[in-house]
Amino acid sequence: SDPVMWHDIFLTNRDAVLRILDAFRGDLDALRAAIDTGDGHHMLGVFTRARVAREHFSKILARRAYVDAMHSNDLIYLAQPGGTLSGQIRVPGDKSISHRSIMLGSLAEGTTEVEGFLEGEDALATLQAFRDMGVVIEGPQHGRVTIHGVGLHGLQAPPGPIYLGNSGTSMRLLSGLLAAQPFDTVLTGDASLSKRPMNRVAKPLREMGAVIETAAEGRPPLVIRGGQRLTGMRYEMPMASAQVKSSLLLAGLYAAGETAVTEPAPTRDHTERMLRGFGYPVAVHGSTATVESGHKLTATHIEVPADISSAAFFLVAASIAEGSELLLEHVGINPTRDGMLRVCRAMGADITLLNEQNSGGEPVADLLVRYTPSLSGTVIEGELIPTLIDEIPIIAVLAATANGTTVIRNAEELKVKESNRLDIMVNELTAMGVSLEGTDDGMIIEGGKPFHGAQIDSRLDHRIAMSFAIASLAAETPTEILRAGCVDISYPTFYQDLARLQA
Ligand code: S3P
Repeated sequence: SDPVMWHDIFLTNRDAVLRILDAFRGDLDALRAAIDTGDGHHMLGVFTRARVAREHFSKILARRAYVDAMHSNDLIYLAQPGGTLSGQIRVPGDKSISHRSIMLGSLAEGTTEVEGFLEGEDALATLQAFRDMGVVIEGPQHGRVTIHGVGLHGLQAPPGPIYLGNSGTSMRLLSGLLAAQPFDTVLTGDASLSKRPMNRVAKPLREMGAVIETAAEGRPPLVIRGGQRLTGMRYEMPMASAQVKSSLLLAGLYAAGETAVTEPAPTRDHTERMLRGFGYPVAVHGSTATVESGHKLTATHIEVPADISSAAFFLVAASIAEGSELLLEHVGINPTRDGMLRVCRAMGADITLLNEQNSGGEPVADLLVRYTPSLSGTVIEGELIPTLIDEIPIIAVLAATANGTTVIRNAEELKVKESNRLDIMVNELTAMGVSLEGTDDGMIIEGGKPFHGAQIDSRLDHRIAMSFAIASLAAETPTEILRAGCVDISYPTFYQDLARLQA
């Protein structure tokens, strides 16, 4: 553009421009030296970051998330009722474990190989965050990721705010980790994440000495001031949240002394298991997990099991679609995540566990599920809730097809997920003619009566879109799901997989 304008800009901003040119020259010198000496590791880092940076900037500019969207968000999914599901499938990798594999792999010493990594937007947001902080990460390619760990003290200041898309897990876990770094960070997200409560991590982290600023009412963006000395503490969580627990344990890796987190009910324990897998000691006594600083993480190999939260859609699909029989392979059945299986069985679903084994510290099995003509209602409450928290939307669909009453209680956490999942499930199932009512902390569903298709808005919540794609199998008329592309968050190939199994 205008040369006179650039002349003025460069002279007016002399110091800043010189600083950037020096940094740029430094980078070029380092690349030159790497070529000269044949330092392949350095070159791989530069070229991986360069490609990803280019993709990253174009996505931030478009305010899109990370997957090269095969779906645009204005995708409309038209679902026909009926059909039978058969065959076998390995659904994508566990979202919670995928996030943690990138985090701990980055903080480890040495090179960590991950297989079965979930190439969905949420886990890719975490991956991008660590690239922003200077970690060389190759992949993902067909679920394989290679992470060149930098050690607990090797992260670098990111060049700008870290954009986390839709991912609450990324933001909450990263808060704990970043509170202990020597540099400042800003964490931002999309419209949904920008409404989610962050005080649940900011408050206890501040008690440990962190300096964290939030927008009004504890919402993102978060500004995390680096260079603080954290002190371990004993914390009783007011809500059952694995994200809060994990955030504090990650801060505890850096805090003086011990950090002990007590939970009111068991929540997913992937952080504790994976820390141990990286050789970092974690003590668990009853409902309290404790870490102390001063140890290190050593690179390892991680095999991510298939996500039970994604398998849940097919467990319900095969249970309610006449004549179905499906084999879901290598699904994670960690007891802190298997509430869905217990509920399906309590309702009379036909599910058999085959080939149970341990895969890198996480129990897995193949799940054989067959159509059941007469399911019955059940009560879902108390300590069961955290073990199936993400499955409640699809459980509500199962309950709509089951005879009698299903009561869901103590599930108020569902109001602060990617959307208010309690309200949306009640409204949209009502629109399909299901009789149910919402309560303060759950819903009461009178199932087993015929219902029809409807036009459903996903509200850009991946689990809402997938739940209604499955509900439509049992409806009497077609269903139209608006903004259906959001499945990219946790299960980009969901519609293709559903179509293949129905064929
Ligand atoms: C997650 C914990 C749960 C869950 C989320 C993933 C995790 O959230 O809903 O999808 O990976 O730790 P809460 O800790 O907020 O219950």
